Amino acid sequence: MASPFPRSFAQAVDRLLIAADEALRTLSGVATAGREAPGREEGEPGTEEQRRLSAGLMRVNHAGEICAQALYSGQALVARDPQVRQALEAAGAEERDHLAWCGQRLGELRSRPSYLTPIWYAGSFAMGVTSGLTGDRWSLGFLSETEAQVEQHLEGHLDRLPPTDRRSRAILEQMRDDENRHGQTGRALGAAELPQPVKVAMRVFSKVMTRTAYWV
Ligand SMILES: [Fe+2]
Ligand SMILES: [Fe+2]
Repeated sequence: MASPFPRSFAQAVDRLLIAADEALRTLSGVATAGREAPGREEGEPGTEEQRRLSAGLMRVNHAGEICAQALYSGQALVARDPQVRQALEAAGAEERDHLAWCGQRLGELRSRPSYLTPIWYAGSFAMGVTSGLTGDRWSLGFLSETEAQVEQHLEGHLDRLPPTDRRSRAILEQMRDDENRHGQTGRALGAAELPQPVKVAMRVFSKVMTRTAYWV
């Protein structure tokens, strides 16, 4: 079985530098999208109350994408199989689009990201490394379960968004489709089914994050 640790010291330093660079780019807010945000020409919330609701939901989604960046970065850092690492990096690039779109949309809604962004990043990075160290199949299982839970969560937000805010809706729909594909990729690469208590713990963490990031 392949070792989780890189063959040479130089390779280890290289991977750590990539992870550090990603953390800095994500936390400083300079991450840029490779794809243009969906829904450029579409509608806005109708009232001040609706604008605040849209902003709260998009702040939660921005925090979720911070977590996604950190998870994928942590998992890629310790992935054993080069094919798995490549898939994590490709999905991570799409998560970077999501993050940039949510950040841009928050600005358009005259709002701001969560103040707790570094905490969401640090916690998720630690979870990514931990799940990565348990082996690629479990790591992919963690990824697939995360993506399935995020997809469900996005469906909930699509129900709650003000009907006239078609611009935010277009972004969330594209994200939901991408997350679905990320989950499929994970399963195609041999994801293990996670034990139920782990799935429940993941739901609890995401509930704490989504409830908090709406306000703070
Ligand atoms: Fe995402
Ligand atoms: Fe995803």
